Amino acid sequence: MSAPTPDNVFPLLSTSMLGRQLIYEQSVPSTNRLAAELAERGAPEGLLVVAERQPTGRGRQDRSWFSAPEQNLTFSLLLRPTVPSARIPEIALLAALALHSSLKAVVPELVISLKWPNDLLFEGKKLCGILCESAITPEYGLQVVVGIGLNVNCPRQAFPPELQLRSTSLRMASGEEQDRSRILAEFLNQFEPCYQHWLQDRDLGAFLPAWQAADLLYGRNVTLDTPAGLVSGQAQGISPDGRLRLRLPDGRLTLVSCGDAHLAPLD
Ligand code: BTN
Repeated sequence: MSAPTPDNVFPLLSTSMLGRQLIYEQSVPSTNRLAAELAERGAPEGLLVVAERQPTGRGRQDRSWFSAPEQNLTFSLLLRPTVPSARIPEIALLAALALHSSLKAVVPELVISLKWPNDLLFEGKKLCGILCESAITPEYGLQVVVGIGLNVNCPRQAFPPELQLRSTSLRMASGEEQDRSRILAEFLNQFEPCYQHWLQDRDLGAFLPAWQAADLLYGRNVTLDTPAGLVSGQAQGISPDGRLRLRLPDGRLTLVSCGDAHLAPLD
């Protein structure tokens, strides 16, 4: 199966911008960090950084991200969206949705769900994490780095013991080795039209039905670990600006901007 090099990815790309400049490295500390540094020096929208090893991969909420070398996809995509900065958090959800639909094309037999804000899960185990980081420079303006870690061909024993129970890979789920170049190209091909559509819109509204169709949390009782503390209620989908709609035990509806969602066991 082919490594996600420019030679292998370019023939599969139908994008006009995303991934057209592709930096493929054997090892970088963090693809998000490298993409952000290149962005600060004026790199163009669509730049893609892919690495086979990422010794200090970053996760959400200051966690680290583990990825078994040469088996998975760890990459970062640079965007320079011309929208108000309040809309930036919507991008991570848009990327999760595009990745979800690209995996549906590649491994249609798998039922993969979306877990707000931007995880992809198979049978309750994490397949993919997304970390978006943004900055503004006086010279080049707004930059958003969309960092994606997708467990593709990693066998169970390649995960550290603490991750073995809660993580999975496409290969573990499907029983077959998957082509990383095809998955990467499929994601870029699906994400570009979504992103262009989203830039023209005022919010994520057009994408909400697709989100709801794969929403793991919808209608479930959840506890959210937020910077303001724990909050519990029933998840009711997402709002057009990407926040989680949560029905509180007293019946009020609240919108949660960020946090980790933990599911209550099914009744
Ligand atoms: C999460 O915590 O779920 C998000 C994980 C994001 C990991 C990816 S791997 C490629 C990119 N580079 C990084 O350092 N992190 C992101």
